[in-house]
Amino acid sequence: MADKVAPGGMKAIELEGNEIVICNSRGNYYSIQRRCGHMNAPLDLGTLDGIYLTCPMHCAQFDITNGEALSGPVPADISHEIMSPVLGKYMQNIGMLMNYVRMESIRTFETKLEDGWVLIAL
Ligand code: FES
Repeated sequence: MADKVAPGGMKAIELEGNEIVICNSRGNYYSIQRRCGHMNAPLDLGTLDGIYLTCPMHCAQFDITNGEALSGPVPADISHEIMSPVLGKYMQNIGMLMNYVRMESIRTFETKLEDGWVLIAL
């Protein structure tokens, strides 16, 4: 039911093996793949602002109308001065490796509202 997704909200579902997030953007419904195109974080735990969805893990942004990746991951702004040298080196390595992780746009699904139900075409 459409009323299970509050305005500005998201709801994760599984449909025939597909992990999908239904987004309610100002009364318009969109369906996108649940997993981020960076490192598979669950996008329903991110934030939705209009048609822009921000990943909860590294803050990549997606357009929910077409799945386009609008920005890549944002490196964590963690001061190495407050960490032990071992942890600081670890975080430095993680930051370097993040540059090699590919960023992909995400899949969208045709979605329509009919008699109060959200219909999704796979
Ligand atoms: S997992 Fe989504 S931006 Fe990294």
